Amino acid sequence: MTFMKAYLITMFSAFCIILFMRKLFFHKNYDLNKFSTAKGLVDIEEINKNVFNIFDEWQKVADNGLTIDPPKEIPKPTEFLLNNYTRLEYYYWNQTPKNTNLTLEYWNQTYIDNLVKAAKINPSKVPLSYLDECLSVYTATKHFGIKDKIGAVIGSQQPWAEVFLLANGVKHITTVDYYQLSINHPKMDFLYAPDLPLKKEKYYGKFDFIVAFSSIEHSGLGRYGDPIDPIGDIREMNKIHCMLKPNGLLYLGFSVGVDKIAYNAHRIYGRMRLAMMFEGLLFLFRWLSTKNLF
Ligand SMILES: *[C@@H]1O[C@H](CO)[C@@H](O)[C@H](O)[C@H]1NC(C)=O
Ligand SMILES: *[C@@H]1O[C@H](CO)[C@@H](O)[C@H](O)[C@H]1NC(C)=O
Ligand SMILES: *[C@@H]1O[C@H](CO)[C@@H](O)[C@H](O)[C@H]1NC(C)=O
Repeated sequence: MTFMKAYLITMFSAFCIILFMRKLFFHKNYDLNKFSTAKGLVDIEEINKNVFNIFDEWQKVADNGLTIDPPKEIPKPTEFLLNNYTRLEYYYWNQTPKNTNLTLEYWNQTYIDNLVKAAKINPSKVPLSYLDECLSVYTATKHFGIKDKIGAVIGSQQPWAEVFLLANGVKHITTVDYYQLSINHPKMDFLYAPDLPLKKEKYYGKFDFIVAFSSIEHSGLGRYGDPIDPIGDIREMNKIHCMLKPNGLLYLGFSVGVDKIAYNAHRIYGRMRLAMMFEGLLFLFRWLSTKNLF
C-alpha cells in the first residue's frame, strides 16, 4: 500500500474528478500484461478470476440481501471506520428502490438524442445532478478521448453522463445501476448491478473506459439499496478493474478531504482510504471543484 502524492490530497472537501489508467492489479509499477507465477505466465484476468474471486466475493455479500431499509446506526463501526480513524457523522437517507416513488425512467432515443443535440451546443444546458461539477465529465472525456470507444457508466439516475459521452463521440455505453432503467437507444444498454456476477464472463476486460461520478462513495452504505458492506466501495473498484481493459481509463468523481463517513449518505476520501481505492491505477489528471460542498 502506498500513499498517493501529497498534492492530490487536498485538505478540504471538494468534489473531484480524477482520471486513472488501469495498471496491473498489484504490480502497478510494472507495465506488463503477463507476469510470472508458480503456474507460469498469467494475465491479470486469470488472477482476478482464480485468486481474488472478486465477483464471487461480492455475490456472497449480496446473498445477505439487497438493502430494503438502511440501518439507522452505522453497523460494524470498527470495520466501516477503519478502526475508528475515520470521522463519523450522521446524514441519513433512505433512497432504496422500494422506498422511492421514482417512476421508472424510460430513456428513449428521441429523449437522449435531443439532450445530445443540446449538449453539443452548450453542455451546461443538459439537466445536471451536481451543477457545475458534472461538467468536468464533459471536459475530461473530451480531452482524454473516448471517441469511438466502448465504455460504462457506473451509477446513473439521470442520463447526463451518458449524454456527454455521446456528445463526445462514444461508440457504445453500458449503464450500470441498482435502479431498473429502461434504455432504448442503439448506442446504449443497461446492466442491473446485482446481475453483474452472473454475467461476469461477458464483462471481463470489456471496457475501454468507465465513468463513475458520485457513485462509488455510496457503495456499501445501503442508501440506494446496495448490500451493506464495510468495503463496498473497494469491492466496486475491484469490479471496475475486472471490467476495464488493461490501460483502460477510469474517470472517477467523488469528494476528497479528511477520511469521513457521513452515514449513510456518502464517504469522503482522505489519506487512508484514497490509497486503498487507487491500488493498481496510474494517476493521470485531476479536476478539482473550487466549491466546498460537504
Ligand atoms: C469504534 O467505535 C465503536 C463505537 O464507538 C466501538 O464500538 C468500537 O469498539 C470502536 N473500535 C475500536 C477498534 O476502537
Ligand atoms: C410514495 O407514495 C405513496 C402513495 O402516494 C405515499 O404514501 C408514500 O409516502 C410515498 N413514499 C415516499 C418515500 O415518498
Ligand atoms: C420518450 O421519452 C420521453 C421522456 O421520458 C417521453 O416524454 C416521450 O413520450 C417518449 N417518447 C416515446 C416515443 O416513447
